[in-house]
Amino acid sequence: MSWNRQAVSQDEHFPVAVIASDRRLTFSTAKDFDRAWELGIFYLKVPEHLDLESARQFGSELLALDSPYRSIQQYGALEGFIALKNNQQTKVALRRQHWDQHYPAEISEFGRQLDRIGIAILREVFSQSGIPEPLWDDASGGYSSGEGTAFLNFVHYDTRNPDFGLHPHTDYGFVTILDATTPGLQVEVNGRFEDVPVLPGHFVINFGEALHFITAHSERAVGAVVHRVLSQQSADPIRQSIVYFANPDLDGRLWQYDAKGDVKGSSSVQDFFAILEKNLTQYR
Ligand SMILES: [Fe+2]
Repeated sequence: MSWNRQAVSQDEHFPVAVIASDRRLTFSTAKDFDRAWELGIFYLKVPEHLDLESARQFGSELLALDSPYRSIQQYGALEGFIALKNNQQTKVALRRQHWDQHYPAEISEFGRQLDRIGIAILREVFSQSGIPEPLWDDASGGYSSGEGTAFLNFVHYDTRNPDFGLHPHTDYGFVTILDATTPGLQVEVNGRFEDVPVLPGHFVINFGEALHFITAHSERAVGAVVHRVLSQQSADPIRQSIVYFANPDLDGRLWQYDAKGDVKGSSSVQDFFAILEKNLTQYR
């Protein structure tokens, strides 16, 4: 019966949230909220004031081999124009402190609008965790009040490299905001990879390891979802994406609190990321 089939597919669909007028992350049902926290992934309706089209246009201009943005210098291993060797991603990646120097003004502003979305999501996670609000800033290395580290990356996938689009991994930081217009993203649910279909007008949001760490002893922990991007073929539409990472500062510290505000553990961000990196290498 088609009615039943529809009911099942809606049940399996990833939950959808909005940023409400009070700036809070809101799901339409408690069940959707539960599922988002359990899976570590959900869709977020793109706020109306956001000029996503201009940002996508900027991303497409990077495909031109003579784009001046392809000669942005590298700052360490994570920033600048980067063509990775172990997957198909090619990208311009910049931390917040370099946006104004390298991105056009409207793209830097777009990044700052994503900062506000990242903060709204993080604050909702903390609010649900029961961790007392005065501790949120310490727990997130300042990100919940507008500091911390953020990356705004413009990515495309080079089909000349026959590798995975992106190998299975979890994100290291707090929250990832993804805009992609073509299929390929999959997440692991109960040991199996499932497609995350493109939902027009929506970002895909996922939680990362640092947020899992911070909330692990709270009333409501969030999970970091394992995800991957399938290998893109030359016959596919060019896969482009905009990725925003809300991350802790590399020289900062992560704190684990329970709902009484007692410290249950902590780690320097560098040590924490080093362990994740080691596990990732073993996983591959
Ligand atoms: Fe990722």
